[in-house]
Amino acid sequence: MGNNVFKGRSLNVIADFSIAERRYFFKKVNELKKAIVTSDFKTQDKFRINDPDFGIYEVFIENSTRTKESFRNAAKFHHAKVSELITTGSSINKGESYADTFNTLSGYQNRMFIVRSTVEGLTKWLSEETERYCVRNGLPYKPSFINAGDGRHEHPTQELLDEFSFLEDTGMRFDSIHLALVGDLYHGRTVHSKTDGLKLFDNVKVDLIAPPELQMPDEYVEKMKENGFAVRSFGSIEEYLDQKDVALTWYFTRPQLERMGDKVLNKADKLRESIVFRKEFIDKIDKNTKFYHPLPRHKEHPTIPTWLDETSFNGWERQSINGYYCRIVLIGLLAGIIGDDFEPETSESGSVLDEKYIVEVDPGNNAPKNDESGYAEGMRPLWNGLVIDHICKGENPSEIREHMNSILHVLKLDEGRGGTWVGTGKDGKYKGLIVVPEYRDLDTKELKRLAAVASGATLNIIKDFKVIKKYRTHMPPRIYNFDDIACANPACITHPANSENVPNYFIRTKDNHFECAYCGKFHTFKEIWKR
Ligand code: CP
Repeated sequence: MGNNVFKGRSLNVIADFSIAERRYFFKKVNELKKAIVTSDFKTQDKFRINDPDFGIYEVFIENSTRTKESFRNAAKFHHAKVSELITTGSSINKGESYADTFNTLSGYQNRMFIVRSTVEGLTKWLSEETERYCVRNGLPYKPSFINAGDGRHEHPTQELLDEFSFLEDTGMRFDSIHLALVGDLYHGRTVHSKTDGLKLFDNVKVDLIAPPELQMPDEYVEKMKENGFAVRSFGSIEEYLDQKDVALTWYFTRPQLERMGDKVLNKADKLRESIVFRKEFIDKIDKNTKFYHPLPRHKEHPTIPTWLDETSFNGWERQSINGYYCRIVLIGLLAGIIGDDFEPETSESGSVLDEKYIVEVDPGNNAPKNDESGYAEGMRPLWNGLVIDHICKGENPSEIREHMNSILHVLKLDEGRGGTWVGTGKDGKYKGLIVVPEYRDLDTKELKRLAAVASGATLNIIKDFKVIKKYRTHMPPRIYNFDDIACANPACITHPANSENVPNYFIRTKDNHFECAYCGKFHTFKEIWKR
């Protein structure tokens, strides 16, 4: 049991499970599904928690049928203690924070929470908070959290059951998938989870079929490409079927037009026309095509019309049933009942956290001259002090000035002597310069803060008219522990509008964006400093 890598974990986003872990998971789901459909009770029992004191709590702050009920039935399969918080009657409505609410429930022997909410990143925050609560109170466990859908962000358990359903079609092979995503790709969290989810397959081709108003947000498309997927976009099913390379697996979603305001609602019929499957399309698709849908489908305007229910294209009913098997296995894994025979992959070496992002360089002969001949414009040389140079190089002067104000504030240089300057380098590009006319050395913490707020800059420490130390800063792999940073997504748990006082945390992406660790929103480096 001690080696079970799943026990006590949380599933906030699909990437919380490695590819190897998911492949193991699907093997177990396959075993369980067989045991249930063949009434093999002995095998079924191997998957059960079988502990009436093991508390599993459902907290659905947003509507649900499939996720909530399949989890409830899966929890009952385990012969565990199953509870539900009716949030409309809870003290959340008296202004209690989510942290206080879930800490309270954690104290009553509840080991697992299944949470759906419009607040993005909520379960990640709660898993961190309740762990601290349990430690503070000497409780011998930390609860697992399962994200059952958070706003537009992710739906990782839907992703697991989608992948399992696709794998049933490929004979559990992981070598390739060609998937058409059709519908509301803008708001749909199930399709957003595909960005990391489909990494399960070695070769991935994704066709995005939606009118521009409902197309996949750029950051997800960007991430898909970073993940090595071949991505194509089409404005309608009609346009898609006018070319030859059509996927055998189609994944439809419900248009969530209610979230898009009057302007879009006025053209709702036109938008739907692009993403509803029509009878005339049947002859243009392969007879082995399978249609999937996370459901619910709208009774008046389904993207998969009901006349398709009795056809061989119907994969969505089996997909929905698979949710039950997948959720039984997931609960069993996080409870540590299964997973002992999983061999974790060896951890990767050379983590980005080892990267040097503050580099001390030779101050060389670049010491300011004791006359003004070396200066093209503006600044007099310093006897003693700090010069931060090359700030926001190449950007426009107003952007540079705005960001220099952030730097002054973050580094607490906005009081006392000194100033900022926008000049041009030898290459003619604009750059910012901050001058502090007092000598002092910066400690490691201050240097890290400098790199976090002024990446790409150069710090010169000047004493007796000589540059005695020079540092170049690069983008750090993580930015956190600053009051001045903020995620721009109003639905994020960290956003002040949610009043949960969650500190911000950003992770650098491969293309030097910064991803919010809670809601996954991509920001440019400067966007995170625009609190
Ligand atoms: N697929 C899905 O999440 O359905 P529910 O909203 O009914 O849970």
